Amino acid sequence: MAQLWGGRFVNATDTGAFDFNASISFDKRLYREDITGSIAHAKMLGSTGIITEDEMDDMISSLQGILHDVEDGKLQITNEYEDIHSFVESVLTERIGDTGKKLHTGRSRNDQVALDMKLYTRNFIDSLDETLTVFLNTLLEIIKTNTDTYMPGFTHLQKAQPVTLSHYISAYFEMFLRDRDRLKDTRKRLNLCPLGCGALAGTTYPLDRDLTASLLGFDGPTRNSMDSVSDRDYLIEVLNDLAILMMHLSRFSEEIIIWNSDEYRFVEIDDSFSTGSSIMPQKKNPDIAELVRGKTGRVYGSLMSLLTTMKGLPLAYDKDMQEDKEVAFDAFDTAHFCVKLFDGMMKTISFNKEKLDKSARHGFTNATDVADYLVRKNIPFRDAHAVSGRLVLKCIDKGCALDDLSLEEFKSECEAFEDDIYEAISLKTCVEKRLTTGAPSKEAVMKNVRLYEELLNKR
Ligand code: ARG
Repeated sequence: MAQLWGGRFVNATDTGAFDFNASISFDKRLYREDITGSIAHAKMLGSTGIITEDEMDDMISSLQGILHDVEDGKLQITNEYEDIHSFVESVLTERIGDTGKKLHTGRSRNDQVALDMKLYTRNFIDSLDETLTVFLNTLLEIIKTNTDTYMPGFTHLQKAQPVTLSHYISAYFEMFLRDRDRLKDTRKRLNLCPLGCGALAGTTYPLDRDLTASLLGFDGPTRNSMDSVSDRDYLIEVLNDLAILMMHLSRFSEEIIIWNSDEYRFVEIDDSFSTGSSIMPQKKNPDIAELVRGKTGRVYGSLMSLLTTMKGLPLAYDKDMQEDKEVAFDAFDTAHFCVKLFDGMMKTISFNKEKLDKSARHGFTNATDVADYLVRKNIPFRDAHAVSGRLVLKCIDKGCALDDLSLEEFKSECEAFEDDIYEAISLKTCVEKRLTTGAPSKEAVMKNVRLYEELLNKR
C-alpha cells in the first residue's frame, strides 16, 4: 500500500478499504496526462520562483524519463499505489529524492485529477473527431456515386415516395455531422484549465495560472476554484454527445439489418463484417450492426450513471466523483470502436441497385405524384388525392403498378388525365422534379455534396 498521506493516522488502512478506495486499476490510463500536467506545474513553480530553476529542471527531466519508461514498458504501473497521482509522485521521489517531494507544492489531487480528466477527454474528442471525419468521407463516397440509384423512402416502414440512395445516406451524413459539431462545441466549453485551484480554495502561493493554462493548450484558467474541482459537466456533455451518436449508429444499424434480410436484400454485408451460425450452415448474420445497436444501451447507461452520481453532491470535491472514470472510459472506448467498425462495414457493403430500383417501382411510391399531376390540371388537391387513392385500389385489384394502367383506366376516375401522365409519374420524374432545397433530386443532393466537401476539408 503506497499512499501520499498518513501523517495524522495512527492505524494502518484496512486492506479492503484500501482496495475499495484505490483507483489505480482504472486511472492508470491517465499517466500521460498526469505527467504532462505535472511538467507544466513544475515549469510554473520554477518560473514563479516557488522552487529553484535547478529543482525545476531536475523535476522536468525526471518526469520526462518516467513517461518514456512507462511507454517503453520499462516501468510498470502496479496496484500497490492508491492512484496514478501517487504513482507518479512516488517514482519521482524515488528517482530525485527531496526535490520530488516539492512537486505537489500548491497543488491538490482535486485540481490534478480535474486537469487529467479534462486533458484525457480533450484528446479523446480530437481522436474521435478524426475517426468521424474518416467515416463521413466513407458516407460521402456512397452519396457521390449513387445520385441515380433510385429506391423507396419509407414512413411507418411502409413504402412512401421514391428517393435515391444518395439522399438516404445523406440523411445519416447530416446526423453524424451534427454529432461531430456537438463534440466540437463541448470541447470549446471544457477548454479552461482547473490547475491551480488546489483542494477547493486556491492556494497562498503566487501561482501563475495563466502560464499553466497556456502551456497545456487551454484558452485560460477556470474562474472559480470550488466549481473547478467539482465540475464534471463537460464529461456529462461528452457522454450525452456519445449517447446521441450511438442512437444514430443504432438507427443506421437497424436499417442495415433490415436491408440485409432475405425479404429486402437491398444490401449485402461483406463476409469480413458478418458472422456465421454454429448450427445453421446457411446463415450469414449481421452481428456487427447488431452489436453496435446493442452497445448503445451501454453508453446510455454511462450517461445515466454519471448524472445520478453527481445529482446530490455538495461543493466542492467528493470522492463519489471518482466514479466518473470507469463509465467515461467505457463509453469513450465503446463509441469510438463502434464508429470504426461501422466505417469498415460501410466501406465494404454492397448495394443491390436492381433490387432498390425494383422496390421503388412497386408499392405505389408515385401515388402522390398522380395527385400532384391532377393539381397541375387545376383539380383541388383533396379531390386529386381521392382519385389517386381509387386508382391505387384498382391496381391492388389487378396486381399492377400505377404506371401499368391504360389511359382509359386513368380517365375512368378523372377526365383530366392525358397521355403525359406516364412521363409525370415515372420514377425519374418523381425524383428529379423534386428540386427544392433538401429534396432527393440529383441537383439538390449535389448542392449539398459541395457543401459537405467544404465542411470535411475544413478542420
Ligand atoms: N482518485 C481520485 C478521483 O478520481 C483522485 C482525487 C482524490 N482526491 C481526494 N481528495 N481524495 O477523484
